[in-house]
Parts: sequence; C-alpha cells; structure tokens
Amino acid sequence: MEKKELLYEGKAKKLYATEDENLVISEFKDDLTAFNGEKKSSEVGKGALNNQISTKLFQLLEEKGIPTHFVAMLDENHMLHKKVDVILIEVIVRNIATGSLTRNLGIKDGTPLPFTLVEFDYKNDELGDPKINDQHALILGLVDFQDELDKLRRMARQVNDILKPYFAEKGLNLVDFKLEFGKDKDGNIILVDEISPDNCRFWDIKSGEKMDKDRFRQGLGGVRVAYEQVLNRILGK
Ligand code: C5P
Repeated sequence: MEKKELLYEGKAKKLYATEDENLVISEFKDDLTAFNGEKKSSEVGKGALNNQISTKLFQLLEEKGIPTHFVAMLDENHMLHKKVDVILIEVIVRNIATGSLTRNLGIKDGTPLPFTLVEFDYKNDELGDPKINDQHALILGLVDFQDELDKLRRMARQVNDILKPYFAEKGLNLVDFKLEFGKDKDGNIILVDEISPDNCRFWDIKSGEKMDKDRFRQGLGGVRVAYEQVLNRILGK
C-alpha cells in the first residue's frame, strides 16, 4: 500500500491517504515536542522506535480483544491503519502520581494511587488541552451519549489491566499514559494514535530511572537510549 496525498501533519506524525478510502498511513516523525509545542527538538531514530513499540503493543492489545486501528507496520517509519473520526478526548490513565496530577493537586510525586485514575482532557491545542468532566464532553459534543464516555473509561481500564502487568514483567512500572479513540466506518469505538514512550511514562522498577519523554521534558538527555531500552524489553532482549 502506497502513501498518496498528505491529509494532516501533527506534532509527531504525518497522516497520508491511500488508494483505499478506509485506510490511511501514519509516518512517525523524529520530532519531539513538549509543553504544548513550546519545547521542540528532534531525535534521530525516535519515529522508527515509536512505530515498532506501538506495533507490538497494538498487536498485544488486539490479541487480548481490544479493537484498535492497527493494520500493519509497513516499514521503519510507516504504519497502515484504519481511518477513523477521532474523538477529541485524551484519555489519561494513572497508576502513580506524577506530572500534572502532582502539580494540580499537590499529591507527592511517586505516590502509588489507591486505584487507577482515569481522566479526560479536551484535545485542543489552542486551549492547552484542558481537563474536562463528562458534562463538559457532552456540552461540547465530543461524543453523543454518556454511554460512549463510559465505554472510553472501560476500554482505558482494560488497556491498563493488560499493559501494567505486561510491563511489570519486563521490569518497568507503567506510571501513566494517554490514549486516543476514534469511530471507524461502522461507528465502532476503537483505540487509535500510538502507544509509545511519547505518551506513556515508564519508570524502571529497580532504579526508578525515567524511560520516556520526561527525559526530554526535563532535559535529562539519553532520550533515544531510553526508548531503545523500552523496545528491547518488549522484544525480550
Ligand atoms: O502531563 P500529564 O501528567 O498530565 O501526563 C499524563 C500522561 O499523559 C503522561 O504519560 C503523558 O506522556 C501523557 N500525555 C500525552 N499527551 C498530552 C498530555 C499527556 O501523551 N497532551
């Protein structure tokens, strides 16, 4: 399957049409951005690493019964996937307090949460992706029914129930992550976007070392090495 016209360029990926109106191709870029695009850089090989990591994780989730947009990894930087109408809600799942949760609510960084927290952010760069509740989502028309919000939460918890023990076995704490969902041509809600160290936080269980985009956000260096480590652990290397 070949890429045709560019449909959209985001911060981390470019989206291309294909000859099949129901399929699109994502090109994973090496660009790194943080703080709503204010901090920018690039890391050679990052796009290829995220493509491989996302491929493995989408395959795992599909095997476990989670519907995703994944169709095939085409080459280093390209993934073929279903075309969807993206739901403009970023679903954030948290097992351990860090990042905006500690900043907003004063919970001590690193505190394990008594239960998995699921939050919704409105996917809107101009507004800085504000946190929203169910009523906001319905008023904004981000989904049509409360049922759909319940489904997003349920699917996000299922993904966590699969990925948390999977990474624990590989010596990584899945601290938190962001998921996106969309509706396929039949109106089914499926998991979309990517699952990678760009949108997940991984802490090494033994050393506590951060192995995700926080290395870039916090200027810790070693971004590519950390992403490679995540892929190698997934591959059992
Ligand atoms: O910054 P915050 O603590 O809210 O991030 C929670 C999780 O969601 C982190 O894993 C972060 O990488 C991810 N996230 C993201 N894209 C955003 C906001 C958060 O991938 N726009």
